[in-house]
Amino acid sequence: MKKIAVFTSGGDSPGMNACIRSVVRTGIYEGLEVYGINRGYEGMIEGDIKLMKSSSVSNIVQRGGTILKSARSMEFKTPEGRKKAYDNLVTLGIEGLVAIGGDGTFTGAKVFHEEFGIPTVGCPGTIDNDIYGTDYTIGFDTAVNTALDAIDKIRDTAAAHDRIFFVEVMGRDAGFIAIESGIGGGAEFVMVPETQTDLNAVVKSLREPKASSIIVVAEGDELGNAEVIMQLVKEKIKDDTKDFKVTTLGHIQRGGAPTARDRVLGARCGMGAVRGLLAGETGCMSGVINNELVYTPFSECIGQHKPLHPDHLSLLDILRI
Ligand code: F6P
Repeated sequence: MKKIAVFTSGGDSPGMNACIRSVVRTGIYEGLEVYGINRGYEGMIEGDIKLMKSSSVSNIVQRGGTILKSARSMEFKTPEGRKKAYDNLVTLGIEGLVAIGGDGTFTGAKVFHEEFGIPTVGCPGTIDNDIYGTDYTIGFDTAVNTALDAIDKIRDTAAAHDRIFFVEVMGRDAGFIAIESGIGGGAEFVMVPETQTDLNAVVKSLREPKASSIIVVAEGDELGNAEVIMQLVKEKIKDDTKDFKVTTLGHIQRGGAPTARDRVLGARCGMGAVRGLLAGETGCMSGVINNELVYTPFSECIGQHKPLHPDHLSLLDILRI
């Protein structure tokens, strides 16, 4: 193998740049030519691919976002789109791919790998932490700390005005950000897509003597978003003296300088991806489990729902008393 390419796809996450840097520099260190594909699968279809040098990834390790940009491609979902992408790789002589992203990225990578057989290794880049085959995903730690910082600030004003705040965090299908920021931020309640919430229990958690409270809601909760849940709770409490507020953190959770953990994880997974390709690993993701680099087939990464840790769920019940 002489030429490989790296791309980022789907929702960006802090630490993706550290991962790109590691892929490029590990590749060069191993004597490879490394290409960068802009805007994920879109750029692969359009041939927006450039040779990268070591200096191409200078001064990016501390930056959020992704210098290769990202996109969610509809055309890549079609056989015609994938054929165009493959032809562009063949024209440049690219023999291996590193795909940095989440479940959507790996679903595309799996199909592409099965269709054309091009060796591909993924790196888990998503703030959601919902990828099976790695203890943590690149960007999760930064996103949790961003959410935590916001919750701390909201707690100050909640306490000052004796208010009940519903704070909505990201997580369409997974409650990892909600549960860790909720535990860290001392939330009275955390609502996540993985479990059913008894609204009576939420109401009970808001009882006196607590004058102010924080409820963290993952955006994908089955009862609805934070606004909907706030209304439901308000109707149940039936107390006009209580003051309710909703804060939706949104995309602030996707940006910002990555934490040390996300930079190191990104670098490690990137190195693992390149070494994996050279060792014949393919159709799999390079992740870290129990502090060891491991390769997990894409089919397992996207086919299994990573569960929340039961300790975390217990902690929420214990710490709110
Ligand atoms: O998958 C990462 C994620 O940030 C989710 O938590 C969120 O639901 C989604 O992406 C938002 O996607 P977009 O930026 O395309 O609106």
